[in-house]
Amino acid sequence: MTKPKANIGVVGMAVMGSNLARNLAHHGYVVAIHNRTHAKTEKVLADHGHEGTFIGSESIQDFVNSIDRPRSIILMVKAGASTDATIAELLPHLNEGDIIMDGGNSNFRDTIRREAEISAKGFHFVGTGISGGEYGALTGPAIMPGGTPESYKTLGPMLEAISAHVGDEPCCTWIGPNGAGHFVKMIHNGIEYADMQVIGETFELLRAAGLSVAEAAETFRKWNEGELSSYLIEITAEMLAQADPQTGAPLVDVIKDRAGMKGTGTWTVQTALELGVPVNGIAESVFARALSSHDDLRTAASVLTGPDRVLEVADRESFIEDVRQALWASKVVAYSQGFDEIRTGGEEFGWNISVADAAKIWRDGCIIRAKLLEDIRQEYSADPQLVSLMAAPSIAPKLGEYNAAWRRVVVAAAQAGIAAPVFASSLAYYDMARAPRNNAAVTQGLRDFFGSHTYERIDTPGHYHLEWSGDRSETKISED
Ligand code: 6PG
Repeated sequence: MTKPKANIGVVGMAVMGSNLARNLAHHGYVVAIHNRTHAKTEKVLADHGHEGTFIGSESIQDFVNSIDRPRSIILMVKAGASTDATIAELLPHLNEGDIIMDGGNSNFRDTIRREAEISAKGFHFVGTGISGGEYGALTGPAIMPGGTPESYKTLGPMLEAISAHVGDEPCCTWIGPNGAGHFVKMIHNGIEYADMQVIGETFELLRAAGLSVAEAAETFRKWNEGELSSYLIEITAEMLAQADPQTGAPLVDVIKDRAGMKGTGTWTVQTALELGVPVNGIAESVFARALSSHDDLRTAASVLTGPDRVLEVADRESFIEDVRQALWASKVVAYSQGFDEIRTGGEEFGWNISVADAAKIWRDGCIIRAKLLEDIRQEYSADPQLVSLMAAPSIAPKLGEYNAAWRRVVVAAAQAGIAAPVFASSLAYYDMARAPRNNAAVTQGLRDFFGSHTYERIDTPGHYHLEWSGDRSETKISED
């Protein structure tokens, strides 16, 4: 009797990899597993072997041989050099048509490079964003695969089966060629950064207005029952309600005020800069994390004076409602910026990404899952070319309705000396985008003054230059 072969293999048995392998096994797939240090593979087999059918292998060759052809192999290793090293180990053992899927948080440009190298050798390479953290990997994440449509025919059904579902719709779909999946996951994380930063700003404002940590936790819990309903708001309520096991104080008060990051938010902003897409809220959230960890700067700046971060609030309930509305508006702006980057990047890289599909698969499983994403999906389904989410029919009137509260919150924060970079920058983005005429004419006039960079006129086409250091006559430099 020949041994049964695995339907799919997973390399990398750290928590994300082992949980994904278990999720596959729970769905009836025979799963080959391998880890560089074999003890980890053995531990997964010992602890979870009874949950399904696993084939553990110590050598990469045995691992590859244990999988049915064409093989589907998921890499769940640390993004970067480890991914390249694991691919190099695998390649000599593969056969034409085999699929390597990278499920790590890889940079989409690495994915483009790897896809080109690997497809030239006759294999498929599928860069795939997976969101949902450790628990999501086990119970149903949101999955964003790139690669070829052909590879999705093999991988897709398995990925869809293990993904989160909204009704009977899987939170997984083919995003587009080569780096498209990792690109969309990168922007998911950028939005995640902004979402979390604006929640932090909200908490600080609530505290400054006199709410206890427990009252703030309860406020988030209540908000989670309404239009702000989302995983991040839900876990904020839980996190804030947690007492420190050592002192009994609110845990949030004993956690150091330094936020780490692994890089995906930074990539979102770098890419946006290259694409010329303004993602102010996302950028502010990356900078806020950087500033939080910049000890020298914070020590040096501690001599600076200003208001003492106390809010005199006449009516606490109405202030809380103002903050709720400002939070919703700022969150929508961050999503709007992220979706703008997806649309623009999709065009720039020739991926033809469906923004509606991205919103659809983010409705559950992923970290930014939120009630709002159903509205966003509907808006992009109705108008796939929607330029700005802010201007969508179901969003624009609400941003208008929440305007006054949003402004009061930004003003109150500034007057009290409370940094609220995402609240403030989102409002600035909103105002700049909606202004019939903004302040850029000054910049352009100055550019022409010192560098002959020319300007366009509002009344006739063409590019013009003024003889600033001469007789101030105007010359038409070009017709367009
Ligand atoms: C997810 C998360 C996940 C991870 C990020 C956090 O979607 O499941 O985004 O990918 O938690 O790597 O990123 P930072 O370490 O940069 O905050």
